[in-house]
Amino acid sequence: MRDAISSSMVQIDDEQPIVPRHVAFIMDGNGRWAQQRGLPRIAGHRAGVESLRKTIGHALKLKLEYLTLFSFSSENWSRPASEVDGIMGLLRRFVRSDLADLNAKNVRIKIIGSRDHLPDDILNYLIEAEKTTESNTGLTLIVAFNYGARDEICRAVQKIAHKIADGDLNPDEITEAILGGELDTASLPDPDLLIRTSGESRLSNFLLWQSAYTEFVFLDVLWPDFAESDFDEALQSFAKRDRRYGNVCATKSVV
Ligand code: IPE
Ligand code: IPE
Ligand code: MG
Repeated sequence: MRDAISSSMVQIDDEQPIVPRHVAFIMDGNGRWAQQRGLPRIAGHRAGVESLRKTIGHALKLKLEYLTLFSFSSENWSRPASEVDGIMGLLRRFVRSDLADLNAKNVRIKIIGSRDHLPDDILNYLIEAEKTTESNTGLTLIVAFNYGARDEICRAVQKIAHKIADGDLNPDEITEAILGGELDTASLPDPDLLIRTSGESRLSNFLLWQSAYTEFVFLDVLWPDFAESDFDEALQSFAKRDRRYGNVCATKSVV
């Protein structure tokens, strides 16, 4: 286990802080940011895209290996149609305007979430983003879109149930690795640090399985106001955490 702990922390150089391998974000607070300014909620989402660009830039500078962004949940479809349409428009525009640049920066994009019932063109944008960047070797940018952790776990269980029904798996052989391997995040490491903006202290159905031993930082800043200094502050907080994984101490051997 100590190997897993040390491999989740990367020292970049003498001047840079120790950074985790994988940071996940719940980018929350766009609507409130807009409301505070008397603007429509979509203006908050538009401003949120700028924060997202800055955050990816900072992750690249820090040489993070994995960055996960919760961009749209399976529950967000329940919002007014005008807001949902606006968010879909921003996604289309983002892929058109930023995909080439991310590709040039050696970013590998991976989409997690259900692909069922998505508008055809949105699905195609997601597939294009993955395909264009699949052989890149720099930052892995995981975008959670139409994502809900309970839905993800149900889909994984369905795949396992089909294997059992087909006689390819025995129920007694189901392990954490088998279940984890059927999740959308199969082959990706669990997040070391999860940051949620907007002052809410909940997971909202994000990465329930994968965050079993993730460190959480909840920040009282709305996502469009999220700055590099907030990111650094969260990393500093993470660096001080004692990750025990059920043991008595993360760093010292105990006899
Ligand atoms: C997060 O901001 C973005 C999405 C959920 C798409 P919100 O839109 O949830 O902003 P608040 O929480 O209403 O302020
Ligand atoms: C979670 O935020 C989803 C995203 C940030 C994409 P929500 O704003 O949807 O979560 P709740 O409704 O406050 O729990
Ligand atoms: Mg919200």
